[in-house]
Amino acid sequence: MISNKLFKTLVTVTCLLLSFALVFGSLGSKVNAAVQDKTWEEIKKRGVLKVGLSADYAPLEFESHKNGKREYVGIDIDIAKKIAKDNGLKLEIVNMNFDSLLGALKTGKIDMIISGMTPTPERKKEVDFSDSYLKSGQTMVVKKTNIDKYKSLKDFANKRIGAQKQTTQEELAKNEIENADIQSMTRLPEVIMALKSGKTDGAIIEGPVAEAYLQQNPELGFAKVKFSEPDKDTCIALPKESPIFLDKLNTSIKDIKDKGLITKYKESAAQAMEDDGSFFTKYSSFFITGIKNTILISIIGVVLGAVFGAILALMKLSSFKPLKWLATVYIEFIRGTPLLVQVFLVFFGTTAALGLDISAMICGMIAMVINCAAYIAEIIRAGINAVDKGQTEAARSLGLGYGQTMKTIILPQAIKNILPALGNEFVTVIKESSIVSVIGVSEIMFNAQVVQGASFDPFTPLLVAAILYFILTFVLSRVMYFFEGRMKVSD
Ligand code: ARG
Repeated sequence: MISNKLFKTLVTVTCLLLSFALVFGSLGSKVNAAVQDKTWEEIKKRGVLKVGLSADYAPLEFESHKNGKREYVGIDIDIAKKIAKDNGLKLEIVNMNFDSLLGALKTGKIDMIISGMTPTPERKKEVDFSDSYLKSGQTMVVKKTNIDKYKSLKDFANKRIGAQKQTTQEELAKNEIENADIQSMTRLPEVIMALKSGKTDGAIIEGPVAEAYLQQNPELGFAKVKFSEPDKDTCIALPKESPIFLDKLNTSIKDIKDKGLITKYKESAAQAMEDDGSFFTKYSSFFITGIKNTILISIIGVVLGAVFGAILALMKLSSFKPLKWLATVYIEFIRGTPLLVQVFLVFFGTTAALGLDISAMICGMIAMVINCAAYIAEIIRAGINAVDKGQTEAARSLGLGYGQTMKTIILPQAIKNILPALGNEFVTVIKESSIVSVIGVSEIMFNAQVVQGASFDPFTPLLVAAILYFILTFVLSRVMYFFEGRMKVSD
């Protein structure tokens, strides 16, 4: 009896306690949620809104070059500008590949993504989305000569279908076309180029964007097929648990809708897309910026790489084992991993692991220096080793110390082996530096991609980039031969 009563009281008390805890807990967390928005606090403190996008998506985001002035334009850009203005913030646009955007958002490289992005269940697991500001349908683009071949999506079964990497169009190809051979490409101009050159049979592209590309590529047209999915929403992506920021975004979006601003934005995007002037008058400024930055990155890479490389080489040659091991591990690791991976590691690692806010340009340079140091260390070590052993022995037997021997006998001879190899490394670095374009460093390759997006011409910009790289490396190697020749004479 007693134990029964005791049991009942215990249950009642526990229930009471639990409900108290629940009520206060939820209240507490509500209060907390209202004040806690780290993303927004961070943005406010900085005074700058960092917006990530992939500027290959006219009329949503692309680069214009009217009157020789280059700027990011498009519907998304106008929305971003409005959001920044509504909140008294400066706008900073970070242009990168579409498939790098979510990673950049999650590691805090950018505050939000506005890049024609469709909310999907998978993405919603990673990030939050604002209200929708635009709806768009999906199209299948083919060569005009093939339009009659395709009456329905079934006719695309087993065909090669192009789509931009990590987009809903890629998904669509998987879901709606039987046994499609999907060819995913990082940037949209590549998707167009593959289609034009016959590498793919069709390309899935969002309606308004496809129209923009078709205007400039008269040999392409729409296949008369329908996807079963309804029109998709387009939203801004932001970090999870950012209620204040989300609210600010939705307020601006609502204002844009209420005032019918999207139509205005569309018109000015169409205007910016209009053609004026020749390829070179319009885009030469892009390539000039590219050349400057490629040269800058390569020089920094080689010069600082040589400094660290020399230190590493001496460490590797030293008789103090731990130093030797450290240098060996570093050199082997860097030479045994792709530069592309190193670039991404530096780019995302600096913010994600170290919490540093470093620009893409600096990240690119750091990655190049890290990489060059390892290769140059080997060049220097080989150069020193190639000096005849007898030289050291002779010097030492004359009573010179290790340092003295190195400085006065070995190094001057080693330099003659090292300099030509260093020159070759320079040539390699100029070419390899194109890899840092993936994180948005504005060097030659990156600008070629920007021009691809802006001109809707996927091929010419690549050709120009190839010629520019060739001129740089060719001139450099001629200069090197000249000096090598002179060094031989001085022997
Ligand atoms: N709406 C598609 C998606 O969210 C494609 C967006 C591509 N955007 C771009 N700027 N390239 O997957």
